[in-house]
Amino acid sequence: MTALAMVAEFDDVAGWTADAVELLGERHAVPAACRGTASPAALAWLAEACELAPGMRLIDVGAGVGGPAAWAAERFGVRPILIEPMPTAGRAAARLFGLPVIAADGRKIPLRPATADAAWCLGVLCTVRDKAAVLREIHRVLKPGASLGLSVVVARGPQVLQVPDGNHFPTCRELDALLEGAGFEVLEQLDQPGRAPLSWSRRADQVAAVVARRHRADPAYALAARQGERFTRLFATGQIAVHLIHAVSRPAVQPMEET
Ligand SMILES: C[S@@+](CC[C@H](N)C(=O)[O-])C[C@H]1O[C@@H](n2cnc3c(N)ncnc32)[C@H](O)[C@@H]1O
Repeated sequence: MTALAMVAEFDDVAGWTADAVELLGERHAVPAACRGTASPAALAWLAEACELAPGMRLIDVGAGVGGPAAWAAERFGVRPILIEPMPTAGRAAARLFGLPVIAADGRKIPLRPATADAAWCLGVLCTVRDKAAVLREIHRVLKPGASLGLSVVVARGPQVLQVPDGNHFPTCRELDALLEGAGFEVLEQLDQPGRAPLSWSRRADQVAAVVARRHRADPAYALAARQGERFTRLFATGQIAVHLIHAVSRPAVQPMEET
């Protein structure tokens, strides 16, 4: 069952964010709609690692409000498809960026096998208990040899205290094993991608300020804010960190024919 706080964080705030962007102007859209701790430096690393190029079909699993996919479309000319289970977030992404959104869970993506040239899954795995199911499903819809770009909030040690509701942080070692088990080969990893410049974070902060002004009294706002405070504390105390991964999809092993 999805934690109430996650619905507040990923769905209620998503809709409020789109409203605030419409007030402040479209230059605010991408920074405000990158909700998986993505900075332009992290997105650029993932885009270059995955060798994104014009016309490529990129699926973004757990796309949220669509900022990363919109950034990739604008900078690299890819054709994204967004997969997002939260209805208001999906509508917000379609409204802000006009991108195609499929309302679906990452464990059951309604696309045919081998349809995507690349996949992103950013800030999602720590919010999912069955990470293996999501990774297996991404592997199914990717073409053999295609790239997967991941941004994952990982646990730095065996214990993380005061975890935000609904989150399960994997360690780097657990993540490697999950990827291997789902049919991926990890090619490259990056710890602590660069921070966003002020020009970017200022726009995201302005949108957050409008959301706070309008919705501070809403119980969903308080729930989402508490999630954010817990993340901030865990990052500040070094218990969790953002980790980027570039992996490629190994071809599925064909069963041996009996003679
Ligand atoms: C931290 S947000 C990141 C959103 C977006 N990827 C970004 O970087 O801006 C996590 C997203 O994962 C989505 N999510 C949670 N569980 C999911 C699942 N089982 N399948 C697909 N998406 C999921 C949430 O709805 C939310 O939009």
